[in-house]
Amino acid sequence: MDIVSNKFIILVLCLFFIAVSVCCAGGGCTSVEKKIYVHLNYTFPCVRLLNATHQIGCQSSLSGNVGVLHVVESEENLDWVLRTGPNPPYMVILEHQLFNRSIMMKLKNSSSRVAGVAVVASNTNPAEGVSPHTACPNENTGVYSESYDITMAHCNVTLWNPFGSGLSYEEFDFPIFSLKDDNDTQLIRQCYMDHNRRVNSSAPQYPLCAMQLYSHMSAVTDTATCMRRNAINFSITPEAVCDPLGDSNVWAATRPLNNTAKGHKMWESVVIAAARLDSRSFFFDVAPGAQSAASGFITLLAAAHALRNVTQEAPPNRTILYTFFQGETFDYIGSSRMVYDMENQQFVVDLDNVHSVLEVGQVGLHTDSRLWLHSDPVSRRNNTVDDVVKMLVENLQSSLTGLNITLSEPAFSQPLPPSSFQRFLRSRPIPGIVIEDHQSTFSNRFYESMYDNAEYLKVSYPQNMTQEEQLEFATETAMALAEVATVVARALYKQAGGEQSQLNNINADAQIVTQMLYSFLVQSNNTWLQQMVPSDLASHLKDTPTNFYVGVTQQPSEPTYLVQHLLANLTGSVVNVTQEDCQKQRVDEKDSESKHIYTYTWVQGAAPPNSTEREGFCVRSTVHTSKALSPAFDILGEYNSKDFSTWTESRWKTIKGRVFLVASHELEMLTLGVGVGVLLTSLLLTYIISSKADILFSSQREPTNATY
Ligand SMILES: *[C@@H]1O[C@H](CO)[C@@H](O)[C@H](O)[C@H]1NC(C)=O
Ligand SMILES: *[C@@H]1O[C@H](CO)[C@@H](O)[C@H](O)[C@H]1NC(C)=O
Ligand SMILES: *[C@@H]1O[C@H](CO)[C@@H](O)[C@H](O)[C@H]1NC(C)=O
Ligand SMILES: *[C@@H]1O[C@H](CO)[C@@H](O)[C@H](O)[C@H]1NC(C)=O
Ligand SMILES: *[C@@H]1O[C@H](CO)[C@@H](O)[C@H](O)[C@H]1NC(C)=O
Ligand SMILES: *[C@@H]1O[C@H](CO)[C@@H](O)[C@H](O)[C@H]1NC(C)=O
Ligand SMILES: *[C@@H]1O[C@H](CO)[C@@H](O)[C@H](O)[C@H]1NC(C)=O
Ligand SMILES: *[C@@H]1O[C@H](CO)[C@@H](O)[C@H](O)[C@H]1NC(C)=O
Ligand SMILES: *[C@@H]1O[C@H](CO)[C@@H](O)[C@H](O)[C@H]1NC(C)=O
Repeated sequence: MDIVSNKFIILVLCLFFIAVSVCCAGGGCTSVEKKIYVHLNYTFPCVRLLNATHQIGCQSSLSGNVGVLHVVESEENLDWVLRTGPNPPYMVILEHQLFNRSIMMKLKNSSSRVAGVAVVASNTNPAEGVSPHTACPNENTGVYSESYDITMAHCNVTLWNPFGSGLSYEEFDFPIFSLKDDNDTQLIRQCYMDHNRRVNSSAPQYPLCAMQLYSHMSAVTDTATCMRRNAINFSITPEAVCDPLGDSNVWAATRPLNNTAKGHKMWESVVIAAARLDSRSFFFDVAPGAQSAASGFITLLAAAHALRNVTQEAPPNRTILYTFFQGETFDYIGSSRMVYDMENQQFVVDLDNVHSVLEVGQVGLHTDSRLWLHSDPVSRRNNTVDDVVKMLVENLQSSLTGLNITLSEPAFSQPLPPSSFQRFLRSRPIPGIVIEDHQSTFSNRFYESMYDNAEYLKVSYPQNMTQEEQLEFATETAMALAEVATVVARALYKQAGGEQSQLNNINADAQIVTQMLYSFLVQSNNTWLQQMVPSDLASHLKDTPTNFYVGVTQQPSEPTYLVQHLLANLTGSVVNVTQEDCQKQRVDEKDSESKHIYTYTWVQGAAPPNSTEREGFCVRSTVHTSKALSPAFDILGEYNSKDFSTWTESRWKTIKGRVFLVASHELEMLTLGVGVGVLLTSLLLTYIISSKADILFSSQREPTNATY
């Protein structure tokens, strides 16, 4: 009896073991991990964004999308994926030249056969123009609506971004990742060559090389839906599904303005000098924005620096207000918020205080040293406005002495290009000029794409240069932008009512433009910027180009704090106070106003030659930040607003990818089936055995502590 029951137990255990191992062989458990070729570490996903009416971007299923790898090297290869291949769904590896609208739409339209796409990024820029952005950026939230001027709405006069394919605004129901072209991608290609390639037109044999991409997105449908779900979730768990896009605008004034006294200021007249701080591309976190954002705001920063001394020694009648807007890419988040705040007594000045606007747009690519002064033909129909605009143009023209730049106005009937100034015009006819390097369509061939980078702006260095040498190496672009900055600075000074005699003393410093270009387009972690930031921000400096994607409000983005501290350094002054007083904004006890006017920042400074300890110092400036969050969210609560940006970014948990070998689908099913069958049999046996245990195992039920 004993022997029989032991045999039974062994048999049951055996059956269990077989069941489990068969299951494993079928792909159900950890032994699969051994077959994994690569974990993809350096990948950028495309993520989901939502506005009032749509969702755009990409996502995978909760457990990641899996597909058989297929490397598409030419458009003919696509047929295998879309129609003939016998092992769908496919994970398409796309060479960067093929990442265009027509191919992506074909894949989108047969999404049952496509598990996902991985685009191998190129290491050099393409020759022809590529822009995944729309051809008419911010079409519905600028000033040119049907009611403003019917002939100018929807880019009817000038299509600003002719290369724009709109790919960034499509919705894909599979994941799309960007892969750096490196050894990992080489491994992927090798895996494909070894396992998946057709030999003599016969179908490839299992096991096949497959890829799995995870980028599941929590938010669906539109902003109103996800904000509602946020509200519901909030009461149970603090887990939101989406966040509004936004950040902070940065501003500074040439004359002290009391920042706690909001609204209208009697006798105050300000000239707004504006630039934008953000950009985007198809992929999350890749937004080099060299021409679309950096060329303009670096020029404005250099102009602000050129004006530091003269605005103190010979102050003009009007105040110059430098403003750097965040989130402009997504329906003018930053500028629309500042204008809204100005209209509602929530900003340091109001719209009545605004004399005029000078905006620096994309200025990095001017050829023939030619720049264009854009203005709004509709508001200029009013003579009062037109007169001021003419004056602004004259001021700019008279600023050119000693410079190798010509300025022209485009045809009178042409509307403004996409610009923050449009949001001011939407509220009232304020005179203003937008400086650009293009007459009509953008000269930028890579608008809001991953190729709008240092290479495109020709910020490159001779070989074998050390970091320190590169930081000081004045490229042609730096020289050219310094000249533009000089024109901007002089024109602002004139516009603010400054004396003509001072103009030739105003010159931008090409050295500082050089250092800024290096800091934003090559790397922010350099000895120059390290001196200018507080020590708690030093660890945020990066060894890569700055990413200008606006992000969500919870995390202030890199460009905002860099520009904030740069602007303080370039327009402020050093004050001799202790670190503690500086950090507590407790500098001038006698002047209680001063802490409402100035910002005091204790920055790291440099280490003297024979020491490793940095010697920090206190910088006093008029630099402040203001919210760059659409009023649709925190004030109006109108998630379907037509006037303000409604963009939100979905949250996600996992972004990752891996490549491994899979056995045949049928084989998998078969082994799984057998496994389940064996498992059920063994369970049944166990049940029978245990229910008959009284009989089977009776002899074993003696108490172990039996009496002797
Ligand atoms: C990628 O990540 C995995 C696990 O995190 C690691 O084992 C592997 O070495 C990494 N590969 C590279 C190229 O860094
Ligand atoms: C939302 O985005 C989609 C896609 O770009 C666009 O067609 C639509 O007009 C946008 N909706 C609003 C209200 O802006
Ligand atoms: C890539 O492979 C080459 C040659 O196999 C090797 O020299 C190089 O170090 C590898 N690079 C990385 C980042 O692993
Ligand atoms: C493919 O076909 C060629 C000639 O038709 C033959 O020589 C070769 O062995 C075949 N290769 C395989 C792997 O079947
Ligand atoms: C022109 O604009 C000025 C100031 O904005 C305004 O006072 C005036 O009424 C406008 N004139 C006409 C004819 O609209
Ligand atoms: C910045 O560069 C320094 C060397 O100059 C290095 O020690 C530091 O780790 C870098 N910081 C970051 C955040 O990469
Ligand atoms: C700006 O930074 C430089 C060094 O990077 C420093 O020498 C200078 O004193 C700073 N100026 C101000 C006003 O912070
Ligand atoms: C800074 O202030 C301290 C004490 O108030 C003084 O001893 C020192 O000389 C001052 N330094 C400078 C550079 O003015
Ligand atoms: C640096 O060295 C010089 C001479 O070697 C010395 O006079 C000076 O005091 C030193 N400075 C510091 C901050 O140690």
